[in-house]
Amino acid sequence: MTHPPERTGFTVWFTGLSGSGKSTLAEMLYHELQARGMKVELLDGDVVRQNLSKGLGFSKEDRDTNIRRIGFVADLLTRNGVATITCAISPYREVRDECRQLIGRFVEVYVYATVEEIAEHRDPKGLYKKALAGEITGFTGVDDPYEPPEQPEIWVDTMTQEPIESLQTILDRLRDLGYIDDATTLVEGPKVHSGMTDLRLTESGHVAEGR
Ligand SMILES: Nc1ncnc2c1ncn2[C@@H]1O[C@H](COP(=O)(O)OP(=O)(O)OP(=O)(O)O)[C@@H](O)[C@H]1O
Ligand SMILES: [Mg+2]
Repeated sequence: MTHPPERTGFTVWFTGLSGSGKSTLAEMLYHELQARGMKVELLDGDVVRQNLSKGLGFSKEDRDTNIRRIGFVADLLTRNGVATITCAISPYREVRDECRQLIGRFVEVYVYATVEEIAEHRDPKGLYKKALAGEITGFTGVDDPYEPPEQPEIWVDTMTQEPIESLQTILDRLRDLGYIDDATTLVEGPKVHSGMTDLRLTESGHVAEGR
């Protein structure tokens, strides 16, 4: 059975370590979907923690609450026809799967990079060095768990791919799954930030502590 035309929303759920590339790819995807005339919203982990989840910490309970809130909002948006993108670390499989069940039209994207790669080559926030030195604790992938998805719809290897290649992998798969008609990239040139992720903050050097 095909979906009724009014129900065109879906959620693209990015998961992966801090610095793996979730926000980078989410921004790129946001502009691609917008260029297709779709209604798009982006729920970024860091931004959510500044408002919807303000006051929550990084214990398992608080992390789960944060992800359930993102899942709740993503479900509301999705059922109202919005292409919804989330990009929180979302380290626990069980809560991600809970969100999958709730939302239904759910595309999980595992953004892969190792701790070693990120700590050595892309640690703009300087947090891995602190975590590896034991200066901050409860850091995902260092001394706090990260449970990779077992059967994500999409898996991107950011150790070997450029962001534009990972984006293409995502667009191809979204087309194959029937969520978009055309996988050709429509947006060229320098990326304009949506203002919905922490990427601009990262550039300015202001970052939230913890992870
Ligand atoms: N294929 C790729 N896809 C995405 N990012 C990549 C890729 N290859 C290298 N990178 C780089 O990795 C970094 C990813 O940073 P980004 O802020 O997107 O991570 P994040 O997963 O959102 O982290 P956080 O959970 O801390 O918000 C960027 O500097 C980006 O240029
Ligand atoms: Mg991010």
